[in-house]
Amino acid sequence: MKIKILTLFPDMFNGFLSESIIKRAIDNNVVDVEIIDYRIYSNDKHNHVDDTPCGGGAGMVIRCDVIDRAIKANCGDSSYICLMTPQGERYNEEITKELAKKDEIVLICGHYEGFDERVRGYVDRELSIGDYVLTGGEIPAMAISDSVIRLLDNAIKEESYKDDSYFNGLLEYPQYTRPVEYNGKTVPEVLLNGNHKLINEYRLKESLRKTYLRRPDLLENRVLTKEEERLLNEIKKEEM
Ligand code: ADE
Repeated sequence: MKIKILTLFPDMFNGFLSESIIKRAIDNNVVDVEIIDYRIYSNDKHNHVDDTPCGGGAGMVIRCDVIDRAIKANCGDSSYICLMTPQGERYNEEITKELAKKDEIVLICGHYEGFDERVRGYVDRELSIGDYVLTGGEIPAMAISDSVIRLLDNAIKEESYKDDSYFNGLLEYPQYTRPVEYNGKTVPEVLLNGNHKLINEYRLKESLRKTYLRRPDLLENRVLTKEEERLLNEIKKEEM
């Protein structure tokens, strides 16, 4: 997969791309990430990419002609172009899975007061990483790239993400490691006895319990299996 990130602040991505799983995925050719400074698509001698808002008001607005030229120079038929904006569709794991199937995604980062409204006409999708406003789209672009890259074949082992929170629509079950006892708190017995049938049932039940207690909205539209229904009924009784 190829990820292109259009930004005014390319250096912000240095740490992100040079550490841990993302670095390994790049080194192993699982993904190619290209950071593009769209200031080079300004057509004035001072490389301005923004201008004051028409009609007056505070701040600066990113120009649509600059974004249009940057897209024309860097995107093709297989590019799936996403604009980072707090006005976008709320990003979630379902969208992550969709993006992970694309050949090429292009993430456009804004800064300052936002984009000229006409930029919206050049993109396939607008994405927000949450109901709060950041100073720019760089952190959202990193969050989205990170969540997509970890799902790509050979980035991490499938077992590492298939039980993660959200991947299967539930929050992840509680994890423990040694020491078995610490400050009077012990690891649940079932995880120590090597019975994988019981361990799997415990994990599913605790996954359901966490979701029921913390994010009941995730259960609203879920079609429960017979086993999930049984476990959820037990949980409801236990939590009364
Ligand atoms: N740019 C500024 N805030 C943002 C957000 N919450 N999501 C995506 N892009 C943004």
